[in-house]
Amino acid sequence: MDENAPKPNTKTTVLTGVKPTGQSHLGNYLGAIRPALALSNEPQTETWFFVADYHALIGVHEPGKLLQMTRELTATWLACGLNPEKTVLYRQSDIPEIMELNWILSCFTPKGLMNRAHAYKAKIQENELAGKDDLDFGVNMGLYNYPILMAADILIFSADRVPVGEDQIQHLEIARDIAQKFNRQYGNVMKLPNYVMQKMGKNVPGLDGRKMSKSYDNVIPIFEEPARLKKLVARIKSDSLPPEAPKAVEGSILFELYECFGSPDQVEAMRETFARGVSWGSVKEELFQLMDAHLTAPRAQYKRLLADPGYLDTLLKQGAQKARAKSVAYMQTVRKAIGIDGNH
Ligand code: TRP
Repeated sequence: MDENAPKPNTKTTVLTGVKPTGQSHLGNYLGAIRPALALSNEPQTETWFFVADYHALIGVHEPGKLLQMTRELTATWLACGLNPEKTVLYRQSDIPEIMELNWILSCFTPKGLMNRAHAYKAKIQENELAGKDDLDFGVNMGLYNYPILMAADILIFSADRVPVGEDQIQHLEIARDIAQKFNRQYGNVMKLPNYVMQKMGKNVPGLDGRKMSKSYDNVIPIFEEPARLKKLVARIKSDSLPPEAPKAVEGSILFELYECFGSPDQVEAMRETFARGVSWGSVKEELFQLMDAHLTAPRAQYKRLLADPGYLDTLLKQGAQKARAKSVAYMQTVRKAIGIDGNH
């Protein structure tokens, strides 16, 4: 479903947020950052990317850490190619109107809808399994209300399309639900957003073949130094076939990662190499060389940016200024609609 796909002569608003969680890895890069940047380069799109630091506050309660992670994520987007002239890049907490809308939307959100949100349900299940009496143990209201804040992020900028990973689709459906409830009461004030499932059909495999994820401890950080990168590639799981034996590309973690970075010609050549037979050592060497060639420039840029936090902070403030031009105006409409402000 994508009724908001671009139409001739109209601009489409593409918006996405990422929660700062510390060092980004290749799963984040290939699954979220790269496809979102590709979308931002399409003609007829206006792109809005933000650092969801208030979402991170649900779990991160050390001030230095939250700020550092925000800067790291900002530097990551920029180092991976985000152009701040073209994309509005801002920090969620710099837009106070989001918080105002968050409250308003919460007054239109049935509690039962939040009971069904998957992050909350997962926490409840975890407590159940651990035999806890209090099933809400460790759940703060931020976690419980997470989807409402996310709806406010999206609806305040009238986003048409929201690129997200599969785990966020439920949140998009909740945002549409809430917007519809609001519109039923006040008319067509909120635009219903559509999700764009990130193109990576399969999840990026980690070192052990499971989805690359911090919780599995199987990640390759994007900006890892070459020596460490090489060591991590060497740890990727393969099998014990001898070098001369033909190798299957299906199910090979090394091949899948090679596919993520290689040109079609390179991938084809690697497919033939697999069929002919090759040692895992030389596949790993080739994969490392390919990744390193892609990541050398972003790595250097990331380092430069992080060494200049003042620049990152200024850039975020400039982004917030552009974003607020829209959010302030939109909130006037919302306030009028609900009878807080204006001519009712
Ligand atoms: N929940 C998203 C995640 O964890 C981050 C996010 C917050 C977001 N607000 C958003 C994504 C709005 C898209 C749109 O990845």
